[in-house]
Amino acid sequence: MQELRPNVYSIRAIDWDRRLFDELIPLPEGTTYNAYLVEGSEKTALLDTVDPTKTGMLLGSLAASGVERIDYVVSHHAEQDHSGSIPAVLARYPHAQVVTNAKCKAMLIDLLRLDEDKFLTIADGQTLSLGDKTLQFFDIPWVHWPETMCTYLAEDRILFPCDFFGSHLATSSLYVEDEPLAYESAKRYYAEIMMPFRTIIKKNLEKLSRFAIDMIAPSHGPVHGRPEMIVTAYKDWVGDRVKNEVVLAYVSMHESTKLMVEHFSKALVERDIIVKQFNLTSADLGRLAIALVDAATVVLGSPTVLTGAHPKTAYAAFVANALRPKTRFASIIGSFGWGGKMVEQLAGLLVNLKVELLPPVIAKGLPKPEDLAALEGLADQILAKHQAAGITK
Ligand code: FEO
Repeated sequence: MQELRPNVYSIRAIDWDRRLFDELIPLPEGTTYNAYLVEGSEKTALLDTVDPTKTGMLLGSLAASGVERIDYVVSHHAEQDHSGSIPAVLARYPHAQVVTNAKCKAMLIDLLRLDEDKFLTIADGQTLSLGDKTLQFFDIPWVHWPETMCTYLAEDRILFPCDFFGSHLATSSLYVEDEPLAYESAKRYYAEIMMPFRTIIKKNLEKLSRFAIDMIAPSHGPVHGRPEMIVTAYKDWVGDRVKNEVVLAYVSMHESTKLMVEHFSKALVERDIIVKQFNLTSADLGRLAIALVDAATVVLGSPTVLTGAHPKTAYAAFVANALRPKTRFASIIGSFGWGGKMVEQLAGLLVNLKVELLPPVIAKGLPKPEDLAALEGLADQILAKHQAAGITK
């Protein structure tokens, strides 16, 4: 346990080796699962637990620090990386009550088979006195599950927001020290976990803005001792501003699409548009997600395979559609040999995006001069659209 403030402690399980979350999301920097202990003059509360693979680490830390009694286990979020050790904590501290909202309670009963009589159900805005410290709970729905809530510790001006403001970053540093690394990790986390809920996160940011917050203690990654950095970053990410950038994600089998991508990329750069190019045969899904956070335009590149899109491009389109970035424009480039429905298939996978679909450029076989000219025409259109929308940087 490490002290954040007098009688407020961080208990972290650092997972240096984890490389995948939800069997989907790459974790190049590992992660941490953060629980917190708040000892009031009368009661003690544990805020969240850790991933079930690290239960021993949590119980070991509590035992090593001589914690003999826990009165409350606050559960901000039912996902198992924070709730999964609750059964073991209740077994060790049988008098503890699980404090959470009604939605989270129902989910914990479903996911962990906890007994109904173990719960103390609280409402949005309710307080819980620990004696000389007071926990106040706020619902922050869809950040990123419907039941999610956070705790504000008024006496120490600390916000415990669970996944909100978190990052998958294994580090021995308790606090953010390397701000560029923390920013990049937090942006990756936002892109992969939070971005689909951008609009509601904006509302939740407003809800929290009325509190004086000296420290943000999330459930993943280092603690923000200087909260302005992460709060400013989130306001930017959830805001409506997009950048003069094109995310160009493609696959090529026999060089036709590759030649088109190279020509198109050069044409965009000549028009002072930043290009973020991803060859989907080897791209890190997380880096693609980060690029989607603020790019004004997405262009998918694909050959035609078995009359449809290349499965790797289709996968990227499916992921982008699920992540719902604030992208304004989209298009498709690529090639075919004898026919197919590649364009219709990819366009049909982007239905969640509120984008204007610009005319695709598709070549039969190797791109001919007129195909390359059409790519330059698409670059012109993107430039004109960006300029008309005031997107210049
Ligand atoms: Fe870190 Fe949504 O769990």
